[in-house]
Amino acid sequence: MMASIMPFLTMEEIMDKTALLNEAQTARESAYAPYSRFKVGAAVLTRDGKVFRGCNVENASYGLCNCAERTALFSAVAAGYRPGDFAAIAVTGDTDGPIAPCGACRQVMLELGGPALNVLLTNVRGDLKETTAGAQLPDAFYLEPQAAG
Ligand code: THU
Repeated sequence: MMASIMPFLTMEEIMDKTALLNEAQTARESAYAPYSRFKVGAAVLTRDGKVFRGCNVENASYGLCNCAERTALFSAVAAGYRPGDFAAIAVTGDTDGPIAPCGACRQVMLELGGPALNVLLTNVRGDLKETTAGAQLPDAFYLEPQAAG
């Protein structure tokens, strides 16, 4: 959306890194994880400065569980944002080191965020790994989009 007419700004010119990490921590508080008891939070930053929070949402039919990263990204897409509109995503959970996103979320982060998307991985203790969507999924599966979707 708006991002296409905006000059390119770095993630930190759009929003302080710590603020985005805090958004992910806040998102985690909304997690619905009665089966795994493993709460995850994510926050996506758009290039025009909006933040979309996401948490994991589980279901008694376990295969229907949705990860925090995808909840956040799908929420942004539902609000009208598209590939090219995203600057960063922050993710957090109660892991020993920075959380490692699952393979499905890496695929979705790459398609919607592009390979240069900043990915900030943290945990409740504040350990931090800064990477990109491309680095998180080498040799990814791509399809050529057929029409404006
Ligand atoms: N989960 C996430 O939300 N993100 C990840 O990157 C890894 C896993 C969730 C899915 C499920 O609700 C719980 O964590 C345990 O797998």
